[in-house]
Amino acid sequence: MNNTYLTLGLFLFLISCGPRERVSKEVFDEVNKTMEVKRLSDAEILQEAMIWGDSLTSEAQKNLISSLQKAIEEGGFEHAIAFCKENASTITASKVPTEEIQLKRVAFKNRNPQNVPDSDEALILDAYSYNAENGIENKPNIQKVENGEVFLYTKAIMFPGGVCSNCHGDPNTEISSEVLKSIKELYPADQATGFQQGDLRGMWSLKIPKKEVVKRL
Ligand code: HEC
Repeated sequence: MNNTYLTLGLFLFLISCGPRERVSKEVFDEVNKTMEVKRLSDAEILQEAMIWGDSLTSEAQKNLISSLQKAIEEGGFEHAIAFCKENASTITASKVPTEEIQLKRVAFKNRNPQNVPDSDEALILDAYSYNAENGIENKPNIQKVENGEVFLYTKAIMFPGGVCSNCHGDPNTEISSEVLKSIKELYPADQATGFQQGDLRGMWSLKIPKKEVVKRL
């Protein structure tokens, strides 16, 4: 409201200068711009956060899978494990536009202990686990955290089996002893084996400050 009065006042001041004093087009444009008071609803902001979250996580997933495939082709599964240890978090974050936005994968049964969920994430991951166990489809979700200043976007990661089972499947039948050995060497506290197709593997967790979303609108 204050803003509207202010710009209205400025406008009246500008036209009250009289016909002789011409006001430049730039000044008029500026005034018009200020008068467009942007009123964004919560729903619009949430919707934009959802769209952005979907696209950032899909892109990160695509990049991770193609890098993993390349590493497997180049040096087999053992080499790919070392490659993932070295590069997984960098590849995940590579398309995130600012450091204020945090993108990662988290899991209860994790390989990298840094991928343990925090308390906000654990609540949602619990709900995703419940749904997965009861055959309910998991949809991407957005919660407000940190007093509503940050959006937590999450998306379930279901285990597809196939190539993933070579490193996350049954340690007796699906993971070779060489691969198991290098997992144990690089991740002594590994918990990320024994997954079957259709299990919940973990989830994407994306934290975006609300102001970053508003900037896009
Ligand atoms: C070559 C072995 C290998 C293959 C194949 C593989 N992963 Fe992983 N995965 C790893 C390693 C190593 C890590 C830990 C990366 C790190 O240090 O951040 C990991 C981490 C993860 C994480 C993060 C949570 C955690 O446990 O730390 C998820 C989720 C995941 N993998 C899912 C998958 C899925 C889905 C596939 C199939 C598309 C797959 N992985 C294929 C080796 C593999």
